[in-house]
Amino acid sequence: MSETNNAIPNDLSAFWMPFSNNRQYKKNPRMFVGAKDMHFTTSDGKQVLDGTAGLWCVNAGHCRPLITEAIQKQAAELDYAPAFQLGHPKAFELANRIVELSPDGMDHVFYTNSGSESVETALKIALAYQKTIGQGSRTRLIGRERGYHGVNFGGISVGGIVPNRKMFGTLLAGVDHMPHTHLPELNSFTKGEPQHGANLADELERIVALHDASTIAAVIVEPVAGSTGVLIPPKGYLQRLRDICTKHGIILIFDEVITGFGRMGSKFAADYYGVTPDIITTAKGLTNGVIPMGAAIVKNEIHDAFMTGPEEMIEFFHGYTYSGNPMAAAAALATLETYKQESLFERAAELAPYWQDALHSLKDAQYVIDVRNIGLIGAIELEPIAGKPTKRAFSAFNKAFDKGLLVRTTGDIIALSPPLIVSKGQIDEIVDKIRETLSEID
Ligand SMILES: Cc1ncc(COP(=O)(O)O)c(C=O)c1O
Repeated sequence: MSETNNAIPNDLSAFWMPFSNNRQYKKNPRMFVGAKDMHFTTSDGKQVLDGTAGLWCVNAGHCRPLITEAIQKQAAELDYAPAFQLGHPKAFELANRIVELSPDGMDHVFYTNSGSESVETALKIALAYQKTIGQGSRTRLIGRERGYHGVNFGGISVGGIVPNRKMFGTLLAGVDHMPHTHLPELNSFTKGEPQHGANLADELERIVALHDASTIAAVIVEPVAGSTGVLIPPKGYLQRLRDICTKHGIILIFDEVITGFGRMGSKFAADYYGVTPDIITTAKGLTNGVIPMGAAIVKNEIHDAFMTGPEEMIEFFHGYTYSGNPMAAAAALATLETYKQESLFERAAELAPYWQDALHSLKDAQYVIDVRNIGLIGAIELEPIAGKPTKRAFSAFNKAFDKGLLVRTTGDIIALSPPLIVSKGQIDEIVDKIRETLSEID
């Protein structure tokens, strides 16, 4: 690539950036022009350690050779194939590979292009399934406060983040929310799974009692809520949700867009917690973030219920132009192969205790009011500046960046999720840089 390609363009105004403070950013833009393994390179030539796997997606690290080669080869061989009524081998091969990784009895994969689309797909499958089995009165969807399920209308309706919802009208009708499970007064500084709060799953019983089970199609939760600051489920909570859903014929959807593909040191959070949902939504780590792709992984019973009418009929009126796109399928196959060859899920599990101890060593750092961790995920919660929520964490983000560390902040929480190839030395570097950062900001 030539030098000029890496130069910052003169005019940044045309690109309306997502989830960004556009005006402030464009006054002081920070651009990445390269990446390799654990580091980004900035346009001014600095190395930045990736403490967040991009946006929770680059689980195998950056510019990994198998993935790069697979994409290059695929682009020259078969760039696109129509997704409806036609196929190409890699989409089928990939579905088989995903199924091999998925919990037993979840043998079917519906492709999407993002986490948001995986969520919409899962919600639509749940509603259509209930109708297909003669339970058409089950139309209600239940989400959770502080849940993040992407940005489309279904996802923001079941999601529980106020700014993501309040500007967009009435959203989907017939949605209720369970309370979130974050109980700082009881669980602060817990290492791993918090002790208190499994009883919050019983709130689902309250919602069932209010509306009657015959009106409820599905419940969707993130096993670990990532985007609202790493809210880890209390011990026993997810099993209790599973039991209540089973008892009442409600589909349970785990949104594993973050927790899937090794982030927990397991294939999925479903494996980590030993709780199997009916549908798993994925994206991010499926292709290492390299090419957009997501998938909803579906229990056999649900899939099979659709495969009953005349064979010449379309069974499910849903899909995307890019479902199972050849480039994305090639990237995903190479990603899964990289995870396997390098035993990255196992590596994450082995590193998790070191990660835990390193993060909790920040307990006494300035402003820290909580430290949480699970798998290779962590959160450092800061005391907010009175009357100025989010300001302190955003200062930490900027300061850490200047020190060559990328963190992610949400509210006054620093969220961390390094690529699974992170070394112990790099974990120490992340923690040291955060400690320094916190000692230098207001
Ligand atoms: C749990 C969860 N669901 C859905 C999404 C949305 O994914 P995307 O941004 O790919 O649409 C995210 C993104 O962070 C997520 O964390």
